[in-house]
Amino acid sequence: MSNRLLITGASGKLGTAVLTHLLDTHGVQPARIVAGSRAPDKLTAVAARGVATARVDFDDPASMEAAFKDIDTLLIISSDALGEPGKRLSQHLAAVAAAKKAGLRHIVYTSLISPETSGIHFAPDHVGTEQAMRESGAGWTILRNAWYMENLMAAIPSALESGKWYTASGTGSAGYVTRDDCARAAAAVLAASPTENKVYSITGPQSLSVDDLVATLNAVYGKTIEVVQLDEAGFIGGLKAAGLPDILVQIIAEFDKDVKQGNMAGVSDAIATLTGKAPTSFADFVSALKS
Ligand SMILES: NC(=O)c1ccc[n+]([C@@H]2O[C@H](COP(=O)([O-])OP(=O)(O)OC[C@H]3O[C@@H](n4cnc5c(N)ncnc54)[C@H](OP(=O)(O)O)[C@@H]3O)[C@@H](O)[C@H]2O)c1
Repeated sequence: MSNRLLITGASGKLGTAVLTHLLDTHGVQPARIVAGSRAPDKLTAVAARGVATARVDFDDPASMEAAFKDIDTLLIISSDALGEPGKRLSQHLAAVAAAKKAGLRHIVYTSLISPETSGIHFAPDHVGTEQAMRESGAGWTILRNAWYMENLMAAIPSALESGKWYTASGTGSAGYVTRDDCARAAAAVLAASPTENKVYSITGPQSLSVDDLVATLNAVYGKTIEVVQLDEAGFIGGLKAAGLPDILVQIIAEFDKDVKQGNMAGVSDAIATLTGKAPTSFADFVSALKS
């Protein structure tokens, strides 16, 4: 029986990090791994290490039919197709259907924290994908990733420069996690050849409000950044005035609203349990940015 692992979205930032952790953190043999991407020609670095590559495009069922043959466990990395309503869910459903058709033993998926109660417009994509996995007949592991700390990479320099951090999130908090820790957790699940159906909340070590984020930034950078609380309309107006694309304005505003309502709050010990290593703190993330 095959023990091969296929990772979709292998050329993306998370996919690349999952492959690195499979090979370097977990010592998985390259011959066990298939890196799947719409552009397998971009996968030269892993191919040079002996990892097989395959074209995998959720919009092309034939690509998945060919690539999913002789695979034991599939990691579906959620796509970034947010521009067209309904597209991302149909892509993920096509991937689950192809996995079912190929008779794969286990499917792993990168979901979103608390998707059922989230007000973020793409949360239903995750709910629908999770449901399809549960009904697929294959085993499943759902990795509900918290908001990446990397999503703050634009807000941090702007706050350092202006001395103000604008938010509509009130005193709500979120379990921010680094992308690399999400990748480490996904790689740990894949390397262990999961046999049980499980949902994990993949969070950082602390649930942080904007006051907490700013206190850390001030401590690390020796600054006196102020938190400016805005109502939703004022926050959206500011994001638009800053020239952000509409889709990003929508996502950031929806995120702040979710945080304010408590939907992003809380942490779990899943990363430490799965990987044996605690997740990166925001203080360490910010200190690494500074150095
Ligand atoms: N939790 C968070 O805060 C957070 C933040 C940002 C994104 N995300 C989600 O997590 C995913 C991975 O994050 P990332 O940082 O690695 O983003 P990224 O670098 O932008 O990667 C986007 C991924 O989508 C894949 N993709 C797009 N269209 C596809 C298609 N038709 N078929 C198969 N795969 C397709 C790409 O794969 P190829 O190009 O290799 O085909 C790539 O891996 C994102 O796509 C998004 O769903 C979560």
